[in-house]
Amino acid sequence: MKQIRLSLIGFGVVGQGFAQLLATKHDLLRSHFGFEVKLVSVANSRSFIYREEGLNIPILLELAAKHVALTQHPGVQSWDNALAGLHATGGDVLAEVTGTNLHDAEPGISHIRAALKQNMHVITANKGPGALAAIELLHLAHEQHVQLRMEATVMAGTPVLSTIQEGLAGARVRSIRGILNGTTNYILTAMAGGRDYHDVLAEAQAQGYAETDPTVDVEGYDAVAKALILSALVFGHTVTLDQVAREGITKVTKDQVHKAAHENKRIKLITSVHAVTGIGECPLDVRVEPLALPLTDPLARVDGVLNAITFQTDTLSEVTVIGPGAGSVQTGQGLLADLIAVARL
Ligand code: HSE
Repeated sequence: MKQIRLSLIGFGVVGQGFAQLLATKHDLLRSHFGFEVKLVSVANSRSFIYREEGLNIPILLELAAKHVALTQHPGVQSWDNALAGLHATGGDVLAEVTGTNLHDAEPGISHIRAALKQNMHVITANKGPGALAAIELLHLAHEQHVQLRMEATVMAGTPVLSTIQEGLAGARVRSIRGILNGTTNYILTAMAGGRDYHDVLAEAQAQGYAETDPTVDVEGYDAVAKALILSALVFGHTVTLDQVAREGITKVTKDQVHKAAHENKRIKLITSVHAVTGIGECPLDVRVEPLALPLTDPLARVDGVLNAITFQTDTLSEVTVIGPGAGSVQTGQGLLADLIAVARL
């Protein structure tokens, strides 16, 4: 049986969701896809642990739940620094799921560069590296003859990037329009039902939808990050954060939400990427903004943590994908699909 030596860097909400899926899908991966995953290393911000025979996922999840150091896992070697551990131990695939940093994409981008240079495939849910340096990193992966996949960065495990890159291969895209942040959609939906902004934000945090600093969600930066990833992957064009017209939902009042409802509209945080001069071309107009959509617009009816994206293409006109946009196991699904794609090679 083919064995994949996997290294997992980042063991928060997403890392744990992915680990949980690896355990529950173990038999399916063997029977349907003909490979077995050996999780040889795991890191959080405190330590990097390694065990060549494979780590025990239920033990890891228990240690994390009890906030006990990962080094308490029996029979492991450990490093204080994930980069040093990764250099020393390697693997076939790195799953990079540390938190998103939109300033310099660290530490994720260094982990990804190091893994690619060691000829490891990389799968990631971290939006920083893709938003700031997707084209550079994809080029490095190509040079090293390995894959860099980031399905989980846009709409969690809902297949967006594979839809456009594989399912819609050959189609040219004129524009993209969608609801790309789960936390803000959850909040706006609850506000439309009469609930209070702050209560619902706390709920979204408790559900594991929000970023560590939820300002990133409510001020629209997370949606901008996804727009930058799409600009690079769909249009091959690097757009920077300051080139995006951005407005979050913090100024949206209960009154505005009610007024919109009264007019048969829904306020949604809409992300759009539009090729200004023609299909598949640059420059791009990229925006994140709250808009009141009439109920005839399919995006108006996408509620809660659901996200949706519409691609306008030359061959199929509009193609829309709807599904969960955040969550632990939901994001883990994006990583699982990427892992299977890499293992199938
Ligand atoms: N905080 C993000 C969201 C997580 O709410 O959409 C998924 O990228």
